Amino acid sequence: MGQSNRRQCSVRVVVLGHSGFLGEQILLRLREAGVNAEGVSSAQCDLLDREQVEEYFSGVTSRFQVVFCSARTRQKSQSFDSMTQNIKMVQNFLHAVPRQQLDAVVYLSSVDVYGAHPKVPISENTTPRPHNSYAIGKLCGEYLLSLPALEDCPAAILRLPGVYGAGDQALSVVGRLFRQMSRDGRVKIVGDGRVRRDFLEVSNLCSVVRRVLEKPFTGTLNIVTGQSVSVLELVHMLSAAARLSPAIEFVDADSQQVGDLVFDATKMRSRFPDLQLIPLQHGIAKYISTSTLMEDMDRHG
Ligand SMILES: NC(=O)c1ccc[n+]([C@@H]2O[C@H](COP(=O)([O-])OP(=O)(O)OC[C@H]3O[C@@H](n4cnc5c(N)ncnc54)[C@H](OP(=O)(O)O)[C@@H]3O)[C@@H](O)[C@H]2O)c1
Repeated sequence: MGQSNRRQCSVRVVVLGHSGFLGEQILLRLREAGVNAEGVSSAQCDLLDREQVEEYFSGVTSRFQVVFCSARTRQKSQSFDSMTQNIKMVQNFLHAVPRQQLDAVVYLSSVDVYGAHPKVPISENTTPRPHNSYAIGKLCGEYLLSLPALEDCPAAILRLPGVYGAGDQALSVVGRLFRQMSRDGRVKIVGDGRVRRDFLEVSNLCSVVRRVLEKPFTGTLNIVTGQSVSVLELVHMLSAAARLSPAIEFVDADSQQVGDLVFDATKMRSRFPDLQLIPLQHGIAKYISTSTLMEDMDRHG
């Protein structure tokens, strides 16, 4: 084992929410990099249950860092209850975590906090205007972690756009569109497909998290590529890469539809100048080559 790997092993990292899409990938990549990382999800410690959280953290005796991926996510539930649960998880964590041993927290938040029609390009200076309960819950989580409760422990808030890649179970926008076109031969687009989004490949997020853990900081960062594409362009990129010609069905958007989310990635680039982000086209090619959907279809005719 090399010297840098030995240094990595001495740091213990707890990934809260490792049974989910991002937590699983983050844990996997940290371990591959030689980091002494362990995963905790609701089966090991229900963050909504204060006693369980206290019990879990009372067993942590060495110094450690936390990657906070646990949440009731927008894809799974948009309810008021989910919002209060997301806030409660952060509260319980802050209540029970042994501060003296905690070296850093990385909290996965969302660009949803900027609201439905932010002025573009969005930067970290854009005022958050959350427009739904999920976004309010994420913003409350951010605020709670910025309270002096953590004392001198660095707490990095990473605001994520739509993340896609291995392990997303076709719940990402990229995954959902790819599944629709490969299974049904058609895709459904809400609105006219011209709204622009920034899509992040999951391995890029994992690289960012690892770098933050190596050099912790307090502050907010949008983890974005700075290259937004319209949903229609995304469908064309996916169909070209998968060599499919899906029918496109446009469905009326409701008044709640979110407008363009275009980002100024200056802060992200200056914090990680040597980070090479995977361009969307390459990310899509990688996604399709590792997806089993096409093989499944060939197999079942
Ligand atoms: N995926 C994206 O594109 C995206 C975009 C923006 C922000 N984010 C944020 O990134 C984080 C991870 O997202 P994801 O896509 O990986 O979500 P996910 O796949 O739904 O995973 C959520 C994780 O949270 C855990 N969890 C839920 N309730 C819990 C509880 N009561 N106690 C302990 N753990 C609990 C789940 O564990 P169990 O299965 O054991 O319940 C699971 O491991 C979330 O905070 C989300 O808001 C994600």
